Amino acid sequence: MAGGAIVNTGGGKDYPGKLTLFVLLTCVVAATGGLIFGYDIGISGGVTSMDPFLKKFFPEVFRKKQEAKTNQYCKYDNQLLQTFTSSLYLAALVASFFAATVTRVLGRKWSMLVGGLTFLVGAALNGAAQNVAMLIIGRILLGIGVGFANQSVPVYLSEMAPARLRGTLNIGFQLMITIGILAAELINYGTNKIKAGYGWRVSLALAAVPAAIITLGSLFLPDTPNSLLERGHPEEARRMLRRIRGTEDIGEEYADLVAASEEAWQVQHPWRNILKRRYRAQLTMAVMIPFFQQLTGINVIMFYAPVLFETLGFKNDASLMSSVITGLVNVFATVVSIVTVDRVGRRKLFLQGGAQMIVCQLVVGTLIAAKFGTSGTGDIARGYAAVVVVFICAYVAGFAWSWGPLGWLVPSEIFPLEIRPAGQSINVSVNMFFTFCIAQAFLTMLCHFKFGLFYFFAGWVVIMTVFIALFLPETKNVPIEEMVLVWRSHWFWKKFIADEDVHVGGNHLQMAKNGGDTKGADA
Ligand code: BGC
Repeated sequence: MAGGAIVNTGGGKDYPGKLTLFVLLTCVVAATGGLIFGYDIGISGGVTSMDPFLKKFFPEVFRKKQEAKTNQYCKYDNQLLQTFTSSLYLAALVASFFAATVTRVLGRKWSMLVGGLTFLVGAALNGAAQNVAMLIIGRILLGIGVGFANQSVPVYLSEMAPARLRGTLNIGFQLMITIGILAAELINYGTNKIKAGYGWRVSLALAAVPAAIITLGSLFLPDTPNSLLERGHPEEARRMLRRIRGTEDIGEEYADLVAASEEAWQVQHPWRNILKRRYRAQLTMAVMIPFFQQLTGINVIMFYAPVLFETLGFKNDASLMSSVITGLVNVFATVVSIVTVDRVGRRKLFLQGGAQMIVCQLVVGTLIAAKFGTSGTGDIARGYAAVVVVFICAYVAGFAWSWGPLGWLVPSEIFPLEIRPAGQSINVSVNMFFTFCIAQAFLTMLCHFKFGLFYFFAGWVVIMTVFIALFLPETKNVPIEEMVLVWRSHWFWKKFIADEDVHVGGNHLQMAKNGGDTKGADA
């Protein structure tokens, strides 16, 4: 059975305990780590379409933009400009590997702190930039910050949350990403109006605000019981678990944590270990999920919305406004997944969101083709442009309740403790690598593929939707340290996991083999 899962029989298996205020607060604070990533995604597109910024750093692009009859698809095609946007992602890619060690050896919160501090310095450098070198070095520091935050925050959230609310609390991270994007877009809208021409400086320097939030926040966060135990503090771990679950009755969950950390102690080299056959399922997901997330094409909209809307013939101000609209849709649609993810599950959201994105991309591609054809010249009427924006919004909504949040949630919850930080940094680095590729290639792709770019991404969404249908088991409500049971009972992945590879606190192996209903096994 494709997607066969255990322990998701409507909350059939869960540990005792409730959602405590304490856990809610710690998760809200940790999730603010998403703000820095989001702010950054949202700020670059607007800044790179501001004339004073282009004049100062990329005069050639500015000149091309002025030439009235330039091909619409090609007017922004410039390597240096793309390097500005994408240098951050390469830095994040490399940083996430270092973050894995900090997260494992010192604990999750220290990675968040490093992330916040580095981002803060990057923001200062960018705001004060005098030349392209300062801009790019600043962006590299921002990237290191993002690498550390994205590596540690999702894991932290997934470990703190009670199993039945893990999706909801983890998606706080994606919600903060979308709020960061929206805030950045609103700020760009305002700073673009500054007549004296220093608006771009304000936009870039304000990145210090989200950085300060996560930096201060992380100082107050406790570490997760999973990490405390793994690092040899059993009493603290037990106390923390009682505190976050709000009950004395933590025996079963604690037993699972102990089993997980005993397993972890035997693993000296997580990086070598992750390649073992028994982790093939999780490793595949840690590579394919972020790869597919970027191949949805979402960042074409996120980075380049103002540029894209200008290409479509909107005036500068109107195009920033349209990207504010997509930003709002992004935030509100994320809330939909927060509410539904632990009820309907991850798979249904993936499949529904995917289908919606495919339809919208085909429509947008066709609308643009009809208007600009392949020559790329022509003017777009207001009503027509509005229809394009509506479909782009529906596409963004589809992403925002599927691949957006789940691209961070699923990889953070599927790995066993011993290789969880390593698995998450693979997720981050693959994500950043393909974010980099898209950021680097988009303007050139638009120039060559033209409207076909939308068909290109639609094709990828078809492939990833089939992939999910066949290979991703449902993970909702499954306790994080029992996740191996889900893979053990999946029609495809079970071949890769032997009985002796399954170590959980209780005697759950039999039920996994029985086809996965925990109710019977627990009774
Ligand atoms: C993705 C980003 C994207 C954002 C949009 C995130 O989950 O990783 O690449 O820009 O969602 O909201």
